[in-house]
Amino acid sequence: MSVSAMYPGTFDPITLGHEDLVRRACRIFDHVVVAIAANPSKEPMFSLEERVELARASMTDINNIEVSGYEGLTVDFARDNGLGVIMRGLRAVSDFEYEFQLANMNRHLADDVETAFLTPNENYNFISSSLVREICSMGGDISEFVSPVVNDALIERCR
Ligand code: COA
Repeated sequence: MSVSAMYPGTFDPITLGHEDLVRRACRIFDHVVVAIAANPSKEPMFSLEERVELARASMTDINNIEVSGYEGLTVDFARDNGLGVIMRGLRAVSDFEYEFQLANMNRHLADDVETAFLTPNENYNFISSSLVREICSMGGDISEFVSPVVNDALIERCR
């Protein structure tokens, strides 16, 4: 039986921590869709199209992934695309409460879609997209937190 999963998030922009989780998920699931939520409430630095392009360009070496943008509910995207699993990352205990609430709400909305959690490599458990954006905007070096293509895009955007 082939199992497909989605990894939803804002990915503004995708970091090496996100990529680490995608690579782990790709070893477990047959097919992984990195699903980039429009999420206008977060007022993203990069447009949805740019976030999709940056994620694609960062992971060209992985065969069994697809990167797709979406608007609307995560569970609707999962159902519409035949994805039975929502994969999310837990970097620290502090992530748990929010993720637990999200998973339970998603289960309430769609009982046929399961949420599974993975943890990133410990070298990445302190990274977040907003910290990376902040460091870059203040002239700090972010090259150890993001792929070269994201590094260049962030430097260009922060200029
Ligand atoms: N490495 C690096 N950073 C990570 C990470 C990892 N492995 N895992 C999480 N993060 C960071 C992100 O960079 C982000 O940081 P930031 O807020 O500082 O920018 C933060 O943790 C969480 O962001 P993200 O993983 O992108 O998720 P999100 O909380 O922005 O998005 C959605 C959550 C998109 C999945 C959720 O809002 C959603 O499902 N929206 C669609 C609408 C919907 O269905 N709503 C009902 C939900 S029940």
